[in-house]
Amino acid sequence: MRKKIIAGNWKMNKNFEEGMALVSEVSNMVKDEYSGSAEVVFIPPFIHINAVGRMISDAKNLFVGAQNCSNHASGAYTGETSASMLKSCGVSYVIVGHSERRQYFNESNDWLAKKVDAVLANDLNPIYCCGETLEERESNQHFDVLKKQISEGLFHLDEAGMRKVVIAYEPVWAIGTGKTASTEQAQEIHAFIRNLISEKYNHETAQSITIQYGGSVKADNAAELFAAPDIDGALVGGAALQSRSFTDIIKAMK
Ligand code: 13P
Repeated sequence: MRKKIIAGNWKMNKNFEEGMALVSEVSNMVKDEYSGSAEVVFIPPFIHINAVGRMISDAKNLFVGAQNCSNHASGAYTGETSASMLKSCGVSYVIVGHSERRQYFNESNDWLAKKVDAVLANDLNPIYCCGETLEERESNQHFDVLKKQISEGLFHLDEAGMRKVVIAYEPVWAIGTGKTASTEQAQEIHAFIRNLISEKYNHETAQSITIQYGGSVKADNAAELFAAPDIDGALVGGAALQSRSFTDIIKAMK
């Protein structure tokens, strides 16, 4: 069965104390109240990663991730953080190509392909984000946009590499807007992405890959999204910043 993953992307939120309190509350609630099989991933700002990693090191279904990493291995790149540094601090997952990085930091598919390689070279799992803007959807370009993002960012990988990738479909128009894609819209895109992988690699590889949905996921829409056959979890922003709303989303995944 495919791995189900609920990840909380804190973006640039939470000072140290707030972040540790959130992890502590969510960990306790997950331990006491969650009997499902999903992996839960905290994705804090870099500066909190080490501390979060230590807090959750004993819990078998809790993991820590990073929001970004350098495409270089090491060297004179002031302000950057390498995948091997992340690995040494306990990271398991690295977000690559979040729409905010594509939009505000001009990260292109080619550039992101190199980050995917850096993540995989350190035996970590990339969470590769893709998604169309409202304008692209309204002009019916969304399938082409997604195909380009997926093929240019990922299709240089061999099958073994591809199987380590998690994909997050995050329509830009649904991020932070309170406007979730309908379950039908999300399922349609997830099935489309899985089909692209099947055509490029094979059916088994496509079936093995976790595809998360992201964009205004909340406790009250999570269960319906998770019931769709190709939706394997969520990449949560705003609702991951409060322990109750995040654990309610986790509990929606059986
Ligand atoms: P929101 O859940 O706040 O819409 O953010 C989604 C997101 O960008 C997660 O990476």
